[in-house]
Amino acid sequence: MQAVLKVDQVSKLYGNKGNQFTALEEVSFQVNRGEFVGIMGPSGAGKSTLLNIISTIDMPTSGNIFIDGTNVIAMKEDQLALFRRSKLGFIFQDYNLIDSLTIRENIALPLSLNRVKTKEIDKRVEEIAKRLGITEILEKYPHQVSGGQKQRCAASRAIVTNPSLIFGDEPTGALDSKSSQHLLESLQDLNQQEHATILLVTHDVFAGSYCDRILFITDGMIYKELIKGNRSRKEFAQEILELLGRVGDDINDAI
Ligand SMILES: Nc1ncnc2c1ncn2[C@@H]1O[C@H](COP(=O)(O)OP(=O)(O)OP(=O)(O)O)[C@@H](O)[C@H]1O
Ligand SMILES: [Mg+2]
Repeated sequence: MQAVLKVDQVSKLYGNKGNQFTALEEVSFQVNRGEFVGIMGPSGAGKSTLLNIISTIDMPTSGNIFIDGTNVIAMKEDQLALFRRSKLGFIFQDYNLIDSLTIRENIALPLSLNRVKTKEIDKRVEEIAKRLGITEILEKYPHQVSGGQKQRCAASRAIVTNPSLIFGDEPTGALDSKSSQHLLESLQDLNQQEHATILLVTHDVFAGSYCDRILFITDGMIYKELIKGNRSRKEFAQEILELLGRVGDDINDAI
């Protein structure tokens, strides 16, 4: 299988000499094309730091990140901007939609920026809106739709370019359980039907149960990896819960 992402001994130190904090310590792992990978762990473990570095928003102190075989750490800012736009998709907790654009225009934005032809844009937006169940709201503005619909719009925008990698940092964090389930099912569908590769940071066991594999981060290091295999979501959720309990115990023991 081909690795779409290779994280190679990535460390991140915050602060300056005398007052340094290690947020990530030599983290290494790979993600193959078509995998749905979760990143879980306690608050402050380094999950967002890791995701921000992989998604080229932030730079590591040392180590390398390869996406589709390209070392993104070595890229210049203008190359990176283009790379981000064509290869990566982002879904944030606070949606990051543009209020003055309709839902349709928001979803189409990455394609418009890439100068794709209008006809092609319309076709792609319609396809994705149908898949995520938001066809009826395409002409509305963000303030006229629900949180769950906004989040599915953000997810649609993230995938409209067919990115190599889709990132989500707690994308279900602000959603009620029904909207959350709808978004997760949409992501699962994209993963299974379009072989999208997804990297999802989450606190939520229910969200974690949708993943093929979960990396547990504690204190800036990979503490454990869980693999779903052929098990049901319910069985996988049980294992995640048990591990979360154990991580909690370890932390309590350390205090
Ligand atoms: N810009 C920064 N400067 C200094 N320290 C930072 C900075 N950003 C994060 N940290 C620290 O690095 C550690 C990891 O933060 P990070 O945001 O990655 O945690 P997280 O696992 O995403 O937590 P949460 O689940 O609460 O979102 C924390 O101790 C945090 O305080
Ligand atoms: Mg975080």
